Amino acid sequence: VRIFVPRDSAALAVGADETAAALLACAADRGVDVQLVRNGSRGMMWLEPLVEVETPEGRIGYACVEADRVDELFDADFLCGAAHPSRVGPVDALPYLARQQRLTFARIGVTDPVSLDDYVAHEGLQGLRAALSMAPGDACALLTESGLRGRGGAAFPAGIKWRTVLEAHAAQKYIVCNADEGDSGTFSDRLSMESDPFGLIEGMTIAGVVTGATQGFLYVRSEYPDAIATLREAIEVARGAGWLGADVLGSGRAFDLHVAVGAGAYVCGEETALLESLEGKRGVVRAKPPLPALAGLYGKPTVINNVVTLATVPIIFARGAAFYRDFGVGRSRGTLPVQLAGNVRYGGLVEIAFGQTLRQLVEDFGGGTASGRPMRAIQVGGPLGAYLPESQWDTPLDYEAFAAVGAVVGHGGIVVHDDTVNLAELARYAMAFCAQESCGKCTPCRIGSTRGVEVIDRIRVGGAQPRDVGLLRELCDTMVAGSLCAMGGMTPFPVLSALDHFPEDFGVPAQAAL
Ligand code: NAI
Ligand code: SF4
Repeated sequence: VRIFVPRDSAALAVGADETAAALLACAADRGVDVQLVRNGSRGMMWLEPLVEVETPEGRIGYACVEADRVDELFDADFLCGAAHPSRVGPVDALPYLARQQRLTFARIGVTDPVSLDDYVAHEGLQGLRAALSMAPGDACALLTESGLRGRGGAAFPAGIKWRTVLEAHAAQKYIVCNADEGDSGTFSDRLSMESDPFGLIEGMTIAGVVTGATQGFLYVRSEYPDAIATLREAIEVARGAGWLGADVLGSGRAFDLHVAVGAGAYVCGEETALLESLEGKRGVVRAKPPLPALAGLYGKPTVINNVVTLATVPIIFARGAAFYRDFGVGRSRGTLPVQLAGNVRYGGLVEIAFGQTLRQLVEDFGGGTASGRPMRAIQVGGPLGAYLPESQWDTPLDYEAFAAVGAVVGHGGIVVHDDTVNLAELARYAMAFCAQESCGKCTPCRIGSTRGVEVIDRIRVGGAQPRDVGLLRELCDTMVAGSLCAMGGMTPFPVLSALDHFPEDFGVPAQAAL
């Protein structure tokens, strides 16, 4: 019998390794023959450790299986999929999963992340084989046609970025994967790397063979040790199989990959600071132009894309641009892996076509707050994203629709707060975060964020003088207009949205805040 126990760090954090060991020990004691597969996570965090058993009716799940409950499961005959209080039924049929459209994340939790056979049996390498058979210009056109936009948050068309690198003349080009996932409440990059590393490696290899880059770097944040270990293991497997190296799948083209580990700076998720860090320097933002696509790593043309963007590339090449483009709305094509976090009952990964409303996501999937209290504010797009009040929860998930209400979709992180939250405290936190993480290169961010903390403190303790509220708004305007990168340029989003929609938390009468 095959049993699946996730090796993803969310599952490990709640004892998946101990559960796996207990399952093996118990099976040995009882003389039962089991084959243990360490799969990735399905992304339903509240069910971890989610143990699955392969039965003729499909994979049957048992939720929250801690090591000390394993004996009980054997007693209940769980290897046949029998009843038990922790049984959740066929996992693929769980509404949370069945209502999603998993394209980029189709394999997570299903396969063994480091088994190449499993990967190939689940559509693996089809995209790369298709890309190898195409002219590079056609491959860029296909990516543009698919409508894929950068999933790191900026939503720049991936095909246009690749074409810029393809058309740049240089002896050496690079592919860099931005895996410095620093946004609060986000974990889709981590899930992708830990649960389906080959998908990302294939996407990077396709980027390499299309643009003529022979070297790739994965810049992974140090806070993700499990992702780093899984990637390294998967890269070795891919090298051993002749997929990475001097002759990619016998095509005569070269591409190899290296993992670099960050050092805990949020700003190193900004692409030019990341490149500085990768070159061994302090992570300080570079002025653009020149764009990294023309002068990136070591001054060479560089494709720099986020994990999810690159991990989405294989399915586009395997199934075609029209297939992917068919999902979504307006200019937001395809799917977005939304990450439900914060005070939410069912936190996890929801990959779904653009167009769902925020309310559908947090209520239908998220099930409301974990505390059971009413929801009050939702932050979308990480610490630099706006706080949305209930009047905006019917906004569809769509880059342009969010921009129209002064918000950002960003990297798809959704953090829910209940009615005990104080938005003035969160606005202060945004400024304090910026002050702490600023690279210091430009004044509006370096000094403005510290002044921002001071003004918010004055407003909160000093009875919200109109002069201070005006000063905060002016400061935010200066930061938006004068900052070199998104760190200083977007910090005003959470601050102003808090002030605009929740003025009472600042002690400001509604009309005075406007
Ligand atoms: P940007 O708009 O300056 O650039 C987007 C991308 O397109 C960059 O890679 C840029 O080099 C490229 N690009 C622009 N014009 C191009 C052209 N003509 N040819 C080729 N490439 C071109 O945005 P930026 O500063 O890179 O990212 C800001 C975003 O990052 C924010 O919107 C925010 O949502 C997101 N963010 C994400 C975080 C995360 O943890 N994923 C953390 C912090 C911010
Ligand atoms: Fe550095 Fe902040 Fe300026 Fe960005 S906005 S370059 S993080 S000082």
